[in-house]
Amino acid sequence: MSFARGLIEESQRTHPWLNHQLFKDVWDAKLSHNQVRQVIKQQGAFFLDTIRHAAVRLAAVGGPFPTREDLEMQRAMVSTLVEEAGLDTIGGKQTAHPLLFARLAEGFGISEDELFATDYLPEIVNEKNELFRLQREGPLAALCGGAIASEAINHEHSARMLQAYRTHYGIADDHLTFYAVHAGGVEEEHGERGIELVDRLASTDEARHEGLLAMRRAIAARTAAADAMYRLAQATPR
Ligand SMILES: [Fe+2]
Repeated sequence: MSFARGLIEESQRTHPWLNHQLFKDVWDAKLSHNQVRQVIKQQGAFFLDTIRHAAVRLAAVGGPFPTREDLEMQRAMVSTLVEEAGLDTIGGKQTAHPLLFARLAEGFGISEDELFATDYLPEIVNEKNELFRLQREGPLAALCGGAIASEAINHEHSARMLQAYRTHYGIADDHLTFYAVHAGGVEEEHGERGIELVDRLASTDEARHEGLLAMRRAIAARTAAADAMYRLAQATPR
């Protein structure tokens, strides 16, 4: 098995988006509409800022002078940025993923004003800071902490969220495009692209150590955030 595929296997076992009780409770309809509302508002800290997340990844590729390799790496990363920013910016149809997230929130009765004014929990602030920091550390940390840790498993998570929001929470499909596009393999493609790139970059023991740590840091940050959102949901009246 390749190094990157080994990382993905670990992510499938440990990533909160597939394993945390918070999401299991959503899939089993154990959280009320009102409790889920609070979770969605917190998730905006990251999901409303994924254009910049992809841009930071791209901007961290390169040194003082241009190289052919850096140029190729930048080209390999740009499609993720364009997808996040919206294919409608280059003549396609799908709009920006953060705008799709705002539409999801609207489906739960959260206006844009309320969504953007959310008071974020400390664990959510830390999560976002760590995920952005990983993107700034260079291609290997960025890919292991992003494409591998979360994007490679996101289609599975998104398919379950889509199903639960549609069937248990009665949200109309019009508000569910955010999870429909991610369940449909957009992020899986990010993940596939990431696998090739990571296997190319992880050519030494040192690099593999850095990559593994980067993935675990991302999962740790997401787990702490899920713990905090779970506590918030349970402290929210049903
Ligand atoms: Fe996305």
